[in-house]
Amino acid sequence: MSGVQPHDVDFDKLGSEHHVGPNTLKRLVAAWPRRATVRTDMADFMGSRTGDPDLEDYPVHLIPFAEHPLFLDASDEKRRLVNTLGWQAYNARVIAAEEYVANPTFEMLAHGVFPGVERYEAREAMQQSHIDEVWHTYMHMTAMQRTKEAYDLDVEPDYSHPITNRRLFELTAGKSEKWERDILFLVWTVVGELHINNFLELLARDTTIQPMHALVARLHARDEAAHGPLVAEVMKDIFAHLNAQQRELFIHTLPDAITALGAQDYGTWENLLQFARISGSKEIITDTCSLPDTEMMFTDFSTVERLVQELGIEDRVEYDFSVSHETKNSRRRSQAPER
Ligand SMILES: [Fe+2]
Ligand SMILES: [Fe+2]
Repeated sequence: MSGVQPHDVDFDKLGSEHHVGPNTLKRLVAAWPRRATVRTDMADFMGSRTGDPDLEDYPVHLIPFAEHPLFLDASDEKRRLVNTLGWQAYNARVIAAEEYVANPTFEMLAHGVFPGVERYEAREAMQQSHIDEVWHTYMHMTAMQRTKEAYDLDVEPDYSHPITNRRLFELTAGKSEKWERDILFLVWTVVGELHINNFLELLARDTTIQPMHALVARLHARDEAAHGPLVAEVMKDIFAHLNAQQRELFIHTLPDAITALGAQDYGTWENLLQFARISGSKEIITDTCSLPDTEMMFTDFSTVERLVQELGIEDRVEYDFSVSHETKNSRRRSQAPER
């Protein structure tokens, strides 16, 4: 595959690196021309692949109500449609996070809205990441369009407002000052960039789904393996320059960003069930939400914990990171699901 070449940075290892210093930032920036998926030929990796009718579009085990009796009572056709829409919603969640949260933040970073991003390597890293994100949106929208065409989906449910963005916009709506809204976007972007590979890895190596779907996630994850360390490094510079009010807001809203970005999106799932005309849609969702450990898709936020420690604010952030150590990628107790 053109554009994705071996390079001198071990991206698989990066996610577990504890200390990412300026030298790593320089190496990552220098490696971008060789590793960026924007240099991949889309026609090359998508064009020749046809769907396998025996494979799912989305992993069944990631559908939180897959074993609910009412869902199992539905016809194969309807359940298959929910599976396909689950894949579409997965892409839509990625696109929404990039288009409406990460990219506006990268623009702010490029325009000097936040202090501490003046040195050239940092600006270059943010510019590269911004380019990557625009490309990721293109990859995922292409994947959605392929799916739409393959199944003749003339009409689709509205899955353009995932829970990750809904919670951010609820918070920004209550903030009268621009600097407050800017910090919230920064918090969501930092947590998102450190966490998104957990979301992508859900599909990246799954052999029960269409190979093209896993490949889109895998290629995207390759870029994000660099974004996390880059954003963490830049955030350290920014944090050192924030004033006391900005720091307080950053610290107090980190847990909100974590729970939003790790949340299971029951609102969207219910829309998909209703769109597929599954009998008892509301009951299926209500029953699933009432089970323990069903609010979060993820609990492993160890990459965010690492940054929190490096910023020296571990005693101030009200989030129990110990859950990350106990069960990776399992569900978190204690919070009522958003509906
Ligand atoms: Fe991305
Ligand atoms: Fe990213």
